[in-house]
Amino acid sequence: MANSLFRTKKIENILAEGSDDTHGGGGLKRVLTLRDLTFFGIAAIIGAGSFSSLGAAVFDGGPGVAVLFIITAIACGFTALCYSEFASRIPVAGSAYTYAYASFGELFAWIIGWALIMEYSIGNIYVAFSWSDYFTSFMSKVGVHIPNWLSTSYVEAKYAATSGGNPADIDAWNNAPLLGSLRIIFDLPALIINLLITYLVYRGIKESRNFSNIMVMLKLAVVLLVILVGGYLIFSNGLTFNWTPPDDNGVRTVMPNGFGGVMAAVSGVFFAYIGFDAVSVLAEESKNPQRDLPRGMILSLVICTIVYILLSLVLTGAVNYRKFDGVGDPLAFIFEKQNLNVGWMQLFVAVAAVIAMTSVLLVFQMGQPRIWMSMSRDGLLPPAFQKIHKKYKTPSFATIITGLVVGLPILFTDKNFVLDFTSIATLFAFVLVCGGVLFLPAKEKISGRFHLPYINSQFIFPLVVLGGIITAYSLSKTYFSDMFNFDFSGNADYVAGKLSFMDLATPNITLIIFWISALILAVVTMFKKYSLIPMMGLITCMYLLTGMTKNNWAWFIGWLILGLIIYFLYGYKKSRLATGAV
Ligand code: ALA
Repeated sequence: MANSLFRTKKIENILAEGSDDTHGGGGLKRVLTLRDLTFFGIAAIIGAGSFSSLGAAVFDGGPGVAVLFIITAIACGFTALCYSEFASRIPVAGSAYTYAYASFGELFAWIIGWALIMEYSIGNIYVAFSWSDYFTSFMSKVGVHIPNWLSTSYVEAKYAATSGGNPADIDAWNNAPLLGSLRIIFDLPALIINLLITYLVYRGIKESRNFSNIMVMLKLAVVLLVILVGGYLIFSNGLTFNWTPPDDNGVRTVMPNGFGGVMAAVSGVFFAYIGFDAVSVLAEESKNPQRDLPRGMILSLVICTIVYILLSLVLTGAVNYRKFDGVGDPLAFIFEKQNLNVGWMQLFVAVAAVIAMTSVLLVFQMGQPRIWMSMSRDGLLPPAFQKIHKKYKTPSFATIITGLVVGLPILFTDKNFVLDFTSIATLFAFVLVCGGVLFLPAKEKISGRFHLPYINSQFIFPLVVLGGIITAYSLSKTYFSDMFNFDFSGNADYVAGKLSFMDLATPNITLIIFWISALILAVVTMFKKYSLIPMMGLITCMYLLTGMTKNNWAWFIGWLILGLIIYFLYGYKKSRLATGAV
């Protein structure tokens, strides 16, 4: 049994299927160029993270959050290089799922495929909700008021009405029409945009590409305008002192809440970067995937990193970082009357936000069916998922199911609930991709194809871990002893019963696991001489995972268990490796 769980697919077989019509491969149109792929990357990356959660990140970290954008970009950069190595070896749809099948085997591949549902579909629920927030506010700016009960989720309205909160949500609860005793409250714009995007993706890659390219150009233009207008006003109004606000002791610094404050913003910042990996699912629609996929991924990541650093500087220069407490539309906020006071920019930003999020939705909604298509080709999902539409040449059934998986939960969930899943699952997938590269056999260099350079990590990686330990210790002498402290009787929230033991213990447990893993990896690589880039990707993504809360882990583990049950009931028996079809 153990052998069959870790049965791997040979890369030759994966490549052969990718061009084999009988398995649904070869049916997709190869139309995408390097520019299209880069645009898809940008389309997927710049969205709800930058237009919404950037405010909270800036509030936590102050101007120094720009540094975090660089650090996270480095972590994502290592991962992108690992994705690129896989993409150049296995240029077929399926992304991390396919890569895991070739390196770790079927069970891990299934787990990744299952986790990617959270990144692509569940992530899109969050983006659809954010899209609706901006769309609704844009409509009200042009004088069209959408009733509150038609523009928020039932869960949020109920929460606001019972625990206090956003007045619009409370209004939705109080004024919703009744069906018997049931209040009719749902997010209509979120549902409609999901329906439209599903239709577009169903109709065809070419139409989607053209639409996506136009949206990316528009969104980059408006983001650039925010940077130029905001930057100009910061200097002309003499606001540069905002970049060094005073800390609690009155000392001016770029990190008024210390490095700890900057690191508290990790999840929000990481969410802003999710998406560069979506490029890899378009392998079978790319004209020259082995050359262009890696370039597209890395180029889009570099462009977005520059944009994010500039944006965070403009935000923190325009107003004092403390003003961003609870601000959900930070880019529009800086142009409000009490801040830079540029009315027309607020409207521009609202339009750009709607456009930016539409393109995120589009890319993720395209990615999900293509991953399912690959899983179906392998027998892990029913054959319908690999069906290609005769006329439109798209994975039609899988596209409709994606629309339902995104659309139905819009009726039952809320934004915050789905946001954390996306980050934890994506980081988990990144860890497995970086780990997977370590297991790939050496390959011949072929000119014109991406090749991950091998740098021996035998001594460098242990030094990096040692450097990490020294840095952590010098920043806080009690860093390591605090990690082993499980006595929370001095914590007021714990004593009052507001926080449970596990709420407080989870960060310690995850940090302990992280440091033990880092030490084990450091020792192993001294013997195995692993490649440095994937090792760095592995360790940085593992570190970001330590930022996840108890609830994140509980839901994520529950989701994985559900996935395993489905695998053993269906995929384990129907797998083409099991039935001997390959
Ligand atoms: N990075 C994407 C966004 O911010 C998921 O919307």
